[in-house]
Amino acid sequence: ASTKVWAGAMSMGETAAPASLLPVDALPRGLPLRELGKLTNESKTLGLFRATLTAAPLRAELVAGHATEFWTYNGSLPGPLIEVFEGDTIEITFVNRLKQPSSIHWHGLPVPPEQDGNPQNPVPPGGKRVYRFTLPDGCAGTYWYHPHPHTYTAEQAFRGLAGLFIVRARQDPLNGIPERLLVTSDLKLDQQGKIPADDADDWMNGREGQFVLVNAQHMPVVRFDTGGRERWRIWNACSARYLRLTLPGIGFALVGTDGGLIEHPIAGLQEFLVVPAQRAELIVDAGTHRDRVDLTAAVYPRGKMGEVAPDKALSLLTVDFSPVRSTIQPPLPLQLCSIADLGPVKAHKRVVFTEQMSMKDGRHQMSFLVNGKTYDMKRVDLTSRRNEVELWEIVNQADMDHPFHLHGTQFQVVEREIHGVVTPEPFRAWHDTVNLKSGETVRIKAVQRWRGLRMFHCHILEHEGLGMMGQLKVV
Ligand code: C2O
Ligand code: CU
Ligand code: CU
Repeated sequence: ASTKVWAGAMSMGETAAPASLLPVDALPRGLPLRELGKLTNESKTLGLFRATLTAAPLRAELVAGHATEFWTYNGSLPGPLIEVFEGDTIEITFVNRLKQPSSIHWHGLPVPPEQDGNPQNPVPPGGKRVYRFTLPDGCAGTYWYHPHPHTYTAEQAFRGLAGLFIVRARQDPLNGIPERLLVTSDLKLDQQGKIPADDADDWMNGREGQFVLVNAQHMPVVRFDTGGRERWRIWNACSARYLRLTLPGIGFALVGTDGGLIEHPIAGLQEFLVVPAQRAELIVDAGTHRDRVDLTAAVYPRGKMGEVAPDKALSLLTVDFSPVRSTIQPPLPLQLCSIADLGPVKAHKRVVFTEQMSMKDGRHQMSFLVNGKTYDMKRVDLTSRRNEVELWEIVNQADMDHPFHLHGTQFQVVEREIHGVVTPEPFRAWHDTVNLKSGETVRIKAVQRWRGLRMFHCHILEHEGLGMMGQLKVV
């Protein structure tokens, strides 16, 4: 536990006293993993996906005799899956039935700024708007959507507002391998089954709950009955939790990241780190295993991923390999796609993350800063030119790890530098979020395709809310 005295959220909304929490065994575990609900396309026109997403409170009885109030899209936890093809036009009517302003941000998707749910374009309580965009070719991948109204994002997300978005390619080299969709989220419940507001530790380190859910279920069981091999799409939709995933004794192959497939499968991985907001596509091959194995995530001391050994492992779900019949699988394609280098660099950007401790009324206060400042909606922090390849140098001078996220585009990580040692990125991949260890510098190549305002921020949602966010103006 932190020994720091923390004044709380400063200008932010509520700061709760640390709640006394419901014990972890209060929620049932071991139920079969359920399929995710899909958003139905109401359009009859080929290539057009039209639907409505309504954000509204939903009361559920998780603990006998106690109501838990979630905030959901269309009454679904997680929000319904939007499944479309490259080239499709998406038209979503968003209805806000919350008591707060909200918006829908299409995390990782290439959509024009005015359609991207920016903090500048909130939908007021009781209001609605239409988001409309056309997905370009080549953007097949695993995305998600969540609210982005300034200072409300963290709360709206931890009360349940986050949904999934898959863009499919007409030709997918992994077609035929059954897919499994797994989204992780954190849930914190107090003794009365209520979702408490962020307390001081949440504001400092980002919120973690006593429950880590997969598809909104507590430690479900996956029956591996779809053959000997599955393609897992994994979303880290937690506010702050780092997931270093392992499937002990089985391992997996990495085939995709935030923005789609990588060029060649990376087989034989024993672990893979998925930081808040990131996605991964893994191939899990049962081989000769017929037992039960837990998918686990390493638990790190709060805020410290970098060079600290994990404390213990946390089980996310159990995989039951007993129904598997086939042992031998055809080899994975050697080449999944090609990712060209974004090309010669035309401009440079520098982003520095820092934390600042100050004293107020005899208590410590923490600020999370980007280039020495906290977020200001009226300020432009950086300017880019449309279609110009840029090298961004992102520096973490803070004590904690922070996951950096850039809106509007997928980028390529070029190299990472820590303690003077530069490590080139071992393979090319599309990312919209990259972790920065304490003391690390990460260099990425990025191009913006639309004029307008874009956000970049730490994706620990409390840090973003406290102002660890900047604005990029694309001209
Ligand atoms: Cu997933 Cu700016 O957000
Ligand atoms: Cu985003
Ligand atoms: Cu952060």
